[in-house]
Amino acid sequence: MAKPSRQDRSAVDRSTQFELGHVTVEFHVNDNPVSVIASPVDRLTSVLREHLGLTGTKIGCDAGDCGACTVILDDLAVCACMVPVGRLSGRAVTTVEGLQEQDGALNRLQGSFLHHGAAQCGICIPGMLVSATALLNCNPKPSEQEVEDALGGVLCRCTGYRKIVRAVMAASEFAEPEVIAEKGCATGARIRRIDGVPKVTGTDVFGSDEVPADSLKLRVIRSPYPRARFSFGDLKKFVDCHPGIVRVFTASDIPGENRFGVIPQFCDQPVFAEEETRFRGEAVAAIVGQAEAIADFDDNDFPVTWTELKAVLCTDKAQANGAPLVHASRDGNILTGGLVRRGELESGFAESGVIVEGDYETGFIEHAYIEPEAGFARRVDDRIEVQACTQSAYMDRDAIAQILGLDESDVRIIITAVGGGFGSKLDLSVQPFVALAAWHLNQPVSMTYSRPESIRSTTKRHPSNIECRIGAGKDGKLTAMEFFAVFNTGAYASWGPTVADRVPVHASGPYFIPAYKARSLAVHTNCPPSGAFRGFGVPQSAIAQETLFDELADHLRIDRLEFRIRNALENGMATGTGQVFESGVGFKKCLLALKPHWDGLCARAATLNENSNGNKRRGVGVAGVWYGCGNTSLPNPSTIRVGITADGRVVLFQGAADIGQGANTVITQICADAAGIDIALFGLVQGDTYRTPDAGKTSASRQTFVSGKAAYLAGKTLRRKILEAAAAPDAAELILAKGQIIVEHAGARNTLILSKSPVDDDGFVFTGEGTYDPPIVPLDENGQGAPYAQFGYGAHLVEVEVDTGTGVVKVLNVVAAHDVGRAINPTLVEGQVEGGVAQGIGMALMEEFIPGVSENLHDYLIPTFGDVPNIETIIIEEPDPHGPFGAKGLGEHVMVPTAPAILNAICHATGARIRKIPATPDRVLQAFLSV
Ligand code: FES
Repeated sequence: MAKPSRQDRSAVDRSTQFELGHVTVEFHVNDNPVSVIASPVDRLTSVLREHLGLTGTKIGCDAGDCGACTVILDDLAVCACMVPVGRLSGRAVTTVEGLQEQDGALNRLQGSFLHHGAAQCGICIPGMLVSATALLNCNPKPSEQEVEDALGGVLCRCTGYRKIVRAVMAASEFAEPEVIAEKGCATGARIRRIDGVPKVTGTDVFGSDEVPADSLKLRVIRSPYPRARFSFGDLKKFVDCHPGIVRVFTASDIPGENRFGVIPQFCDQPVFAEEETRFRGEAVAAIVGQAEAIADFDDNDFPVTWTELKAVLCTDKAQANGAPLVHASRDGNILTGGLVRRGELESGFAESGVIVEGDYETGFIEHAYIEPEAGFARRVDDRIEVQACTQSAYMDRDAIAQILGLDESDVRIIITAVGGGFGSKLDLSVQPFVALAAWHLNQPVSMTYSRPESIRSTTKRHPSNIECRIGAGKDGKLTAMEFFAVFNTGAYASWGPTVADRVPVHASGPYFIPAYKARSLAVHTNCPPSGAFRGFGVPQSAIAQETLFDELADHLRIDRLEFRIRNALENGMATGTGQVFESGVGFKKCLLALKPHWDGLCARAATLNENSNGNKRRGVGVAGVWYGCGNTSLPNPSTIRVGITADGRVVLFQGAADIGQGANTVITQICADAAGIDIALFGLVQGDTYRTPDAGKTSASRQTFVSGKAAYLAGKTLRRKILEAAAAPDAAELILAKGQIIVEHAGARNTLILSKSPVDDDGFVFTGEGTYDPPIVPLDENGQGAPYAQFGYGAHLVEVEVDTGTGVVKVLNVVAAHDVGRAINPTLVEGQVEGGVAQGIGMALMEEFIPGVSENLHDYLIPTFGDVPNIETIIIEEPDPHGPFGAKGLGEHVMVPTAPAILNAICHATGARIRKIPATPDRVLQAFLSV
């Protein structure tokens, strides 16, 4: 590997001179003198990472927009990607690797980050830590505003920033002891992330952080048009004329099938387009060669001729008569649809005292994780190994096997740390390209997407056009709801079928509606594929349903929170699919928990508005959420394994991708308590298809519930085997120490000497394996059935201030109540909530991806420190009968209610109803002026 060990790195720091460029530059890095020979215009990021092996400095955009590469230059925090090496002579650079104490211990700031749960995926954390260090060096006790100002140039897509602010403010005096969970009490404890230390020391290995030394680089040639025919020139001559480029790959080089997809019956996306491309950014070829040749290559020099064709860019045009078909086999450009129908709709509306309706529109939303897609592949005899950032190792394995024409057992997928995913890293990105090239060349091949390439070519949240009509009786009880959504699913299926299936189930929200009909269509266009993004279409549908609920309540002159409480789904009530939960429905408790905050904030808004003689208006909004955990109406298994070695180590084979949400920690907490073993003794083996069993994909809020339950069963099995060996009852206590297990019960002790016990082929004395697949009943032709074994519930309350002169909306406060069944780790629960709220703010107020326009983090805006207010999380624990220790999933739920609550708050403040998001100042102003 090219990446040096930590010991090697210090040697590099101190003494190595590099002969890589034109001038010698001498400067200090982390107090060590370095001398590099480089082009004076080389970026400091590449010198740190590639020449000095200091990969703790991350690259998120290479354009000064995201701040992930922040270092301290002399005394100032700067983006290393904007610093040319030629300006470094005699100066001092501090990177995240230079923050630890002399003895290698974490410093106070790093400890504070871990204690406060300030790191999730971790990709932004080096930039945050370094920026905070620059601040604390001159201001040890900064105020909240000072922290926000100093760190404001660093983007985080996971945390919602608040825990980062708290961690920095507490850093100078931080000395809190680490939370230690007593044996049997790991669940419910605020223990630090098990994988947290590498995230605050810069040693976590993300997709681009580790590359084999002899690796070639790969660059993909992509379509500049939404739809185009193309032909190649002389590719052999092209290679011959370009020193450093060793090979071009096109569709004709694929030994297996030139297609991939996440749902087998909708597997339609080619690795390389053949003859015609279907979206701007689609791959047609790849060039592979030496790093410099690839980096310097101008795509315009590639021998390809394009003929732009008529494209369809919106679902209206795609469904029009005579519209070009994106796929010849899909009439009307319709991919698929979904339906849930229950009760008599027309009689339901006939009984309604009030009926409201509205049309809604939402646009593409970019995932904007800070880590661009990256990884490498190498061929090992007749097998291929791919190491990359992904949310699903086994899905990747099956897809790569299909593309290369290999048996699945000959494909190994290793998951790196994942710098945010939110759904998009469920789909393949770099993997097929590097695997194909490494397979043919028998040499390692790596690639990292540039930020524009990442935004241009990967999946997005589905744009939607929604028509919705809802009725209620004069008593404030819902009577009927009709819903129809058309989703722009882009050029390929990706997760379009999942969105089409999931939305009709969820469009009612967690409310009892006796007559209900919800339909959806996923329609192809020549846009980037729409895929999975936190909520799978439910955040879009909730906007229509929850804002119309406010209209109903206003018409009926019922308090808007009370209206929801009156209609809240409870145990024993049928959902729209006819599913009845006898226990575990905690939605009403979430609403009731908001009531004191609601009353207080509404009263304050009324007073402030009454006394205001300017443009500032206060408003308060509320919205609910439910979310089915796991696949819709489909099998959904996870397997987790745990073992105890002869020297007494407990090893958890945990293959669920931790993309920042905390699966590594939560699943270990569950397993430890199920086994009755001290969590401090656990070590992890993470996602590797040759080592960890299939824990399914990190998606649909399923890992705490499904993989957690598998871990629970694995822990129980391990415990049972130990107890059987000791002939002890279930109530016995297990004490692991010094290569032995002491089994103690009622004063009697039995000692199992592990080092003298037989071991299996993997070196384990005892093992336990658990597999869990939640019970479901598939939906019938009317969408009736039990599509999920478990739902999670929640409600958000938002206070906003609207400037009616400019249309600017400022979110001032958020209170979020979530029923998580059992909070396995309350700090991680809060982290999920805060991060989800931040994404909800972005969705409501600023985010909209426009193909060909907002393909960088300068033009595509996501919330920064100043956009996310204080967020109070209220944890409700209504145990789920299936979940491990009663736990429910949470990851998707947390962003669903934020946007509709904000829209409701804007309306409360101004009377302006916004039906097209994002609610940018111009749209707010327009809506306000037309009230
Ligand atoms: Fe900040 Fe993931 S923790 S981007």
